[in-house]
Amino acid sequence: MLSMLYCGNPFLNKTVDPVTVFDSSVEKLIEELFEVMDANNGVGLAAPQVGINKRIFVVDTRQNGERLAFINPEIIATSDDSVPYEEGCLSVPGVFRTIYRPSTVEISYKKHNGKSEIIRASGLLARVIQHENDHLNGRLFISRLSDEEMQDSVREFRKKNKHLLKKINAHG
Ligand code: NI
Repeated sequence: MLSMLYCGNPFLNKTVDPVTVFDSSVEKLIEELFEVMDANNGVGLAAPQVGINKRIFVVDTRQNGERLAFINPEIIATSDDSVPYEEGCLSVPGVFRTIYRPSTVEISYKKHNGKSEIIRASGLLARVIQHENDHLNGRLFISRLSDEEMQDSVREFRKKNKHLLKKINAHG
């Protein structure tokens, strides 16, 4: 299985590249992303979180039983409101913070076969889409907090994941 990258890994701060070739490797990568997401009980996962330099993320909010994969996504419209929600992230385990975002988004993207789609999302789906799309632009949710709150989140992450971080350092 692909390995997770965690907060502090510089790859998570990188803007990743669009997918240009839509072949069977894209479909395979999407399956692998779902596999890692499920193993970690996540509701979304972006390719850079497993070290892959591609603009792809997957989402399963378990609201409508539908699994969605977004390739080269573009958020083309958002509602004017800004609503709070407590977010977490598989790359920042143990840390949960209230983040404000628009409640509704319209997003264009490609499917695995290269076909273009546009959907409008609200509720948890809109929230997860915005969180995962941030990953493609090198942003963790904690970067949407004030500097002080972000530093506090990083401290909490390090404190709660000492064992995990020790293991990563031991194995390079
Ligand atoms: Ni995340």
